[in-house]
Amino acid sequence: MPNTKPGLLKDLKHTYDGLKPNPIRIFDAEASKIEGVIKLSLGEPDFNVPEHVKQAAIDAIKDNESHYGPSNGWPYVRKAAAGFLKDRYNLDYNPDTEIAITVGATEGLHSALDTILNPGDKILMPSPTFSLYDQLVRINGAEPVYINTESTGFVLTPEQLQKAIDDNGPKVKVILLNFPSNPTGVTYNAEQVKAIADVVRKTNLIVISDEIYSELTYGAKHASFAGELPEQTILINGVSKSHAMTGWRIGLIAGPADLMKRVSLAHAFNVTSASNPEMAAAAEALSTEEGRQDTLKMKAEYIKRRDFVVEIMRGLGFKIANPSGAFYVFAKIPSGYIQDDNDFCYDLVRKNKLALIAGSGFGPGGEHYIRVSYAASMETLQEAMKRLTAYINENKPK
Ligand SMILES: Cc1ncc(COP(=O)(O)O)c(C=O)c1O
Repeated sequence: MPNTKPGLLKDLKHTYDGLKPNPIRIFDAEASKIEGVIKLSLGEPDFNVPEHVKQAAIDAIKDNESHYGPSNGWPYVRKAAAGFLKDRYNLDYNPDTEIAITVGATEGLHSALDTILNPGDKILMPSPTFSLYDQLVRINGAEPVYINTESTGFVLTPEQLQKAIDDNGPKVKVILLNFPSNPTGVTYNAEQVKAIADVVRKTNLIVISDEIYSELTYGAKHASFAGELPEQTILINGVSKSHAMTGWRIGLIAGPADLMKRVSLAHAFNVTSASNPEMAAAAEALSTEEGRQDTLKMKAEYIKRRDFVVEIMRGLGFKIANPSGAFYVFAKIPSGYIQDDNDFCYDLVRKNKLALIAGSGFGPGGEHYIRVSYAASMETLQEAMKRLTAYINENKPK
């Protein structure tokens, strides 16, 4: 086993200096060592991949689809993606020039940021938000600027956005939106999307809109940011959440052709292309009526689970912003209990074997909150809520 020669480590790419693995994964790994632990910690659907979707991958393998394809994905897969965006959100993208199939939403985000950001650029992010964004921005030498949205129900307002644009000056290049939101479970309605778009329209900023949870909304239908301002939007989506395919690693990215030309370069340099069997499966998931029904069935389950968790937790004294999408409940720790969210989560998992995620890892506004992922079976959630109830009762403020 080679040990790295120490001199080699001195001057490696500095934007990686000090970066650590995702804190959620670190906590999750710690929690996994506890025997009998229940983990509501990862953003990972518990459903199996639908059979017809699996079959499409198997067919692709059997048909020897084992060769390099076009970097942006096979035309039929891009067409399926374009059809999905049109049918579901009334978005018009040319599959030949405006869409690429990526290795999960993550690679799409990375390729987009990689081709847009120069060192020193600033990127505005309403927070709390998905913790990976921070790292993807920093490795490009750019600076994340958080806009704390706790006081506005975790929804960015046009006033907050305008102020952040004014305060941060010409270095601001991108606004990174995510709705429905991980970690808050809150989403934006059509009016809120329009209000943000009206501010952005007056600028030369690019919006990267991560809408990976767009199929999991529990009230009004999802309104895509790209519906309001396609000329300034890079849209991120995929099948990870809608079809419980997190491990299959297929995402999609769509935007105006000139921007997509550059994003496609980064994508090609990074990964060449996504994998053929997985692309075939994603096309099946996105383009068939059965695929649509799969998501609807999962969605019906998520609603039951959300209602169950929210009712119990509100009864225990947690304050919860209305979770109207994704599969997260973001809850404020009741007063009298450990208020440091990290300490709270470690105490809970050690004493009652329930792993939840501390809110401060998601940026400003997440302090004193915990994130519960309800992408788990009802039985698991029932046991989890029993443990949480026991913890709350056993640690009552004196
Ligand atoms: C907001 C958000 N964006 C992107 C991702 C990553 O998606 P993928 O697994 O398709 O890379 C996640 C996963 O948790 C997420 O929550």
